[in-house]
Amino acid sequence: MPFDINLPAYGSVIGIGVDIVDVGRIKDLHDRQGARFIDRVYTETEKAYCLGMRFPHTHLAARFAAKEAISKAFSTGIGEHLNWKSMGVVLGERGQPSVELDEKGNRLLKALGASSVLLSLSHTDTTAIAFAALVGDS
Ligand SMILES: CC(C)(COP(=O)(O)OP(=O)(O)OC[C@H]1O[C@@H](n2cnc3c(N)ncnc32)[C@H](O)[C@@H]1OP(=O)(O)O)[C@@H](O)C(=O)NCCC(=O)NCCS
Repeated sequence: MPFDINLPAYGSVIGIGVDIVDVGRIKDLHDRQGARFIDRVYTETEKAYCLGMRFPHTHLAARFAAKEAISKAFSTGIGEHLNWKSMGVVLGERGQPSVELDEKGNRLLKALGASSVLLSLSHTDTTAIAFAALVGDS
C-alpha cells in the first residue's frame, strides 16, 4: 500500500546534540519564577501548546531539552549566539516536532553551512529528552 507521507531529503549532518531534563526541575523553576520563566524561555506557540496540556511541565521540559540539544548541535550553548527563544518547537500535521529559528538562529545556521535542524522529543512523567541534528542541503 503506498504511503502518503513525504519527508524531505537532506544532505550531510553538520552537528548533533542531545539533552535530558527532569520534569520536576522545570516545575520548580515555574513555581518559583512563574510567568517570568515561561516568557524568557518559550515562544508564544510553545507557551500556548504546553500550558494548554493536562501535564504542562512534561511538555515544557521536552522543549527545554530541545533548546539545549539544538544549542549543542550548534556547539554554541545558549548565550551570545542563541537565545532560548531563538529556537521554537512547532508540531506538524502528524504531531512530529520541527524547529523554527529566529533571525539570530538563522544567521548562525547559515554561518555553519547548515540548512535545517531536525528534532526528536520523548518524555516520561519525570524525564524529557531531545535529540537534534543540523543538516545541510547537500
Ligand atoms: C551547552 C549547554 C546546553 C550544556 O547543558 P548542561 O545542562 O550544562 O549540560 P548537560 O549535562 O546536558 O551536558 C553536558 C555535556 O554537554 C557537552 N557540551 C558542553 N558544552 C557543549 C557545547 N558547547 N556544545 C556541545 N556540547 C557541549 C559536553 O559533552 C558535556 O559533557 P561533559 O561535561 O561530560 O563533557 C549549556 O552550557 C547551556 O548553554 N545551557 C543554558 C544554561 C542556562 O542558561 N541555564 C539557565 C536555566 S533557566
